[in-house]
Amino acid sequence: MSTELLQPDGVGKGRSDASSDTPGDNVARLVGATKTFGEGDAAVTALDDVTIGFRRREFTAVMGPSGSGKSTLMYCQSGLDRLTSGHAYVGDVDVSTLTDQELSVLRRSKLGFIFQSFHLVPALSARENITLPVDLDSGADVDEAFLTELTDVLGIANRMENRPSQLSGGQRQRVAVARAMIPRPDVIFADEPTGALDSKTSGELLAYLRKAVDDLGQTIVMVTHDAVAASHCDRVIYVQDGRLVGEALHPTVDDILDKIRELS
Ligand SMILES: Nc1ncnc2c1ncn2[C@@H]1O[C@H](COP(=O)(O)OP(=O)(O)OP(=O)(O)O)[C@@H](O)[C@H]1O
Ligand SMILES: [Mg+2]
Repeated sequence: MSTELLQPDGVGKGRSDASSDTPGDNVARLVGATKTFGEGDAAVTALDDVTIGFRRREFTAVMGPSGSGKSTLMYCQSGLDRLTSGHAYVGDVDVSTLTDQELSVLRRSKLGFIFQSFHLVPALSARENITLPVDLDSGADVDEAFLTELTDVLGIANRMENRPSQLSGGQRQRVAVARAMIPRPDVIFADEPTGALDSKTSGELLAYLRKAVDDLGQTIVMVTHDAVAASHCDRVIYVQDGRLVGEALHPTVDDILDKIRELS
């Protein structure tokens, strides 16, 4: 496997075609993205002038210390939160130009999000949680064969009638994964999707995400603290203090561990 660790000013260099911040075949991209929370002395710059693109059929891991801005990057890229300055594009659409209603339509039709804290609806069964994005899309029918495939692969088929409070943390996480995948979105943002899973279940989920990229042409952006999980990806980007501080294409587990040690 070829490995390419890039320096901060080299993020995006060395790609096989145009740099990743140009429209090209990017399905999502950030340009000069800055996000500040709070004001004055209390202000926190969670994202600091980040420019990065995510291509069709590409599986990217986002790594970096706690508080480095990984979730903020995913929230702003997917329009769940708005940038303080800069631009977040999904396809050709600058999400900052959309109304809240237009944004939610875009998100429902093109994006799936697996939240770090799952965000399941407590009063709904696992099945109802999974099919919620399809049910909200008037006129759409649940693809029962795909639902069965997803729940079988994720090992939650026998928990479909249970509510989230009746599920283990790992089962809730897998329900959240199925909910993000069921509408077959162009891009899936997964915020630590294996965080609550044992290594066997985690390996099966990662293999399935890999397959979704390779067979369905989906784009997946996944935050992870796990070097083994990141090694399933086509590239790994590293974030520190809200900035992109490195990018590696097809890194090995050892490459990733070395970079994490360098950053901590
Ligand atoms: N709503 C908010 N209000 C104020 N500060 C926030 C808010 N959300 C995030 N932050 C701050 O922004 C910074 C980046 O947070 P973020 O959640 O993106 O980190 P992260 O890399 O995802 O961390 P973790 O690995 O712990 O999930 C942190 O300093 C955090 O405290
Ligand atoms: Mg986070």
